[in-house]
Amino acid sequence: MKVTVVGAGAVGASCAEYIAMKDFAAEVVLVDIKEGFAEGKAMDLMQTASLNGFDTKITGTTGDYSKTAGSKVAVITSGIPRKPGMTREELIGINAGIVKDVTANLVKHSPDVIIIVVSNPMDTMAYLVHKTSGLPKNKIIGMGGALDSARFKYRLAEALECPISDVDGMVIAAHSDTGMLPLMSKATRCGVPVTEFLDEAKQNHVAEETKVGGATLTKLLGTSAWYAPGAAVSVMVQAILCDHKKMIPCSLMLDGEYGESDICLGVPAIIGANGVEKIIEISLTDAEKEKFATAAKAVREVNGDLKF
Ligand code: NAI
Repeated sequence: MKVTVVGAGAVGASCAEYIAMKDFAAEVVLVDIKEGFAEGKAMDLMQTASLNGFDTKITGTTGDYSKTAGSKVAVITSGIPRKPGMTREELIGINAGIVKDVTANLVKHSPDVIIIVVSNPMDTMAYLVHKTSGLPKNKIIGMGGALDSARFKYRLAEALECPISDVDGMVIAAHSDTGMLPLMSKATRCGVPVTEFLDEAKQNHVAEETKVGGATLTKLLGTSAWYAPGAAVSVMVQAILCDHKKMIPCSLMLDGEYGESDICLGVPAIIGANGVEKIIEISLTDAEKEKFATAAKAVREVNGDLKF
């Protein structure tokens, strides 16, 4: 099956590389607006095929969307990333125009496509795709929770001084420095609640480091991260193409779930061949419910800046 990745920059190329390395897609088409850039990235990646042992075909195009026709999944990573000190929300002005345009082109050539939205501010960009694409809501999935949960597990393992494979945990709500909600009450080490190992100060430290995970990397790298975002997207694409029915926290259009409607926020869902197969409503503590509602309020304010 064919996968399109729009934006052949840091995240797009990393995501294409992970998809190819896992060898579950027939073809990845990279699209970029910069002349020759997607073609160059595709050729470079293809020259790793014999070295890394994959058969996925990677091609690139400068804006010719006819090459994306018949895509099962399209990933939108086009747009500008944040610089040190910037919030994701500050990117809305430029990225909204790009995401809207790209969405129209994708749907024109692949009317049954499932879109994974990565560009920031991601919850608002996912909402924009819902409002402008005409696609059913199971076919629009924002990527945030998969990445934030991986960062949560990294910080948990660090605090617990244990291997990452020992820990499990999930981040829901908004993909923003203040709106992320790492679910400490549900995080475990080999099935044992982490709250049995970590005192409150350590739990708060892990939660805070998780929430600023993207900003920490932006400060170190001078731009936002790409390896973990690319890997997170590849897991979501694989869940769809291989019909894994895998539970992944994603930014989805809510219709009463978690007490919210007409907003995209991070919630756990079953991801399979139909895209979003089911939103899973888990029980939250009163404090978690309050944080979820606060995150929703902030995302709604950013959504208010959109012009359709
Ligand atoms: P980048 O600057 O390396 O790549 C973006 C690419 O998009 C560039 O190559 C650019 O030429 C291309 N582009 C711009 N307008 C386009 C258009 N109209 N059509 C096709 N291509 C176009 O940026 P990077 O680091 O790859 O980040 C991409 C986006 O992903 C940013 O908005 C960033 O904030 C976001 N991001 C989101 C994450 C998440 O968890 N949701 C994680 C990391 C990044």
